[in-house]
Amino acid sequence: MSCDFSNLRLDFPVLDQHVGGHPLVYLDNAATTHKPRAVIDAIARFYERDNSNVHRGLHALSMRATDGYEAARERTAKFINASESAEVVFTSGTTASVNLVAQGWARDNLQPGDVVVCTEMEHHSNMVPWQIVCQQTGATLRYIPVLGENAEGGLDLAAFDELLKEKVKLVAFTHISNTLGTINPAAEICAKAKAAGALTLVDGAQSAGHENVDVQAMDCDFYVFSGHKMAAPTGIGVLYGRKALLDAMSPWQGGGGMISTVAYEGSQWKPSPERFEAGTPNVADAIGLHAAMDYLDSVGRPAIGRHESELAALAYDALSDLPGIRILGPGEGQPRAGLVSFAFEGVHAHDVVTFADQDGVALRGGHHCNQPLMRKLGLPSTTRASFYLYNTPADVDALVASIRRILKFFGVE
Ligand code: ALA
Repeated sequence: MSCDFSNLRLDFPVLDQHVGGHPLVYLDNAATTHKPRAVIDAIARFYERDNSNVHRGLHALSMRATDGYEAARERTAKFINASESAEVVFTSGTTASVNLVAQGWARDNLQPGDVVVCTEMEHHSNMVPWQIVCQQTGATLRYIPVLGENAEGGLDLAAFDELLKEKVKLVAFTHISNTLGTINPAAEICAKAKAAGALTLVDGAQSAGHENVDVQAMDCDFYVFSGHKMAAPTGIGVLYGRKALLDAMSPWQGGGGMISTVAYEGSQWKPSPERFEAGTPNVADAIGLHAAMDYLDSVGRPAIGRHESELAALAYDALSDLPGIRILGPGEGQPRAGLVSFAFEGVHAHDVVTFADQDGVALRGGHHCNQPLMRKLGLPSTTRASFYLYNTPADVDALVASIRRILKFFGVE
């Protein structure tokens, strides 16, 4: 069944407002997405009827809360096609999931001479944790280069093949770049890493809510993502890991809920996923995540991905005509995820974003947690427009009209 995307905006209460006297045009979805009524209602329902702690009580509310929390885990396993729900660890988000693998797996398994590979297009959250653990263990961090003066050539996979001749233990890379819109060939990268004896961690922050994800087909070892970038609440995220790997990993945080026995002399851990969920978990937002997954799949993730890419292509074409613009990432006609990142000589991205806000258009300006990439490309910052299922071609028109107004003000057009 094809979906009428023009009406989806009505499902998102926050979009029903004016900013600067204009209807809100929200194009900052790579930073965070809005929540449909179905998600807001699921969270409210939990607090109104079922609120309780999980796993610890035998009373009715605790059992309902536990059932809701574990149903969310089952739903998440299905959403990414994990082979069992015990492969799903709930965290606070992508950053926490990467740090969990860095400190729970890498810290115990890396030694001097070992290499971790990530890419030059990594978000800080999939770079800094590896820098820290390499400092702790004496391992070395290496980067797959990006190609082209605007990074239009994607990852240099020939250079990756060369890197894999070293003692690589882990390859950690983003599925979709939050700054470039590049869609990396995740299955191919995982296959190359596996052939070289390395594990893989895929940062799915920008992909999980935008396309069908099948961790078994991708054949990755870890896949991490955040709820808030896919219509779910903030503060809930996922670490998928192969069960045998998770069970062999050390806990990162100790506390209640993750132990089987505790004595004054020491303690023993539960298997995964409980081993990694010390303390009271974020039950309400796991239930919100469940509702978001149902909502997204009722629309259809492949259709969502196509819709966003079409909007990005429209924006790319219209912006390309503007004088002095530099657009990062895939070139015209190349596959591009639903975002466009661009810069103008002599006009700072923060000015662009501030002016656009006066027109009711919400953009992001800055380095997008990609400082090393910006430095490599010789840019202090870019302006980014990022789309989601509730955006429409009219939003692209509003974006372009606003940018033209800014350029006129600065005397560029
Ligand atoms: N990672 C988020 C972004 O790209 C914050 O905007």
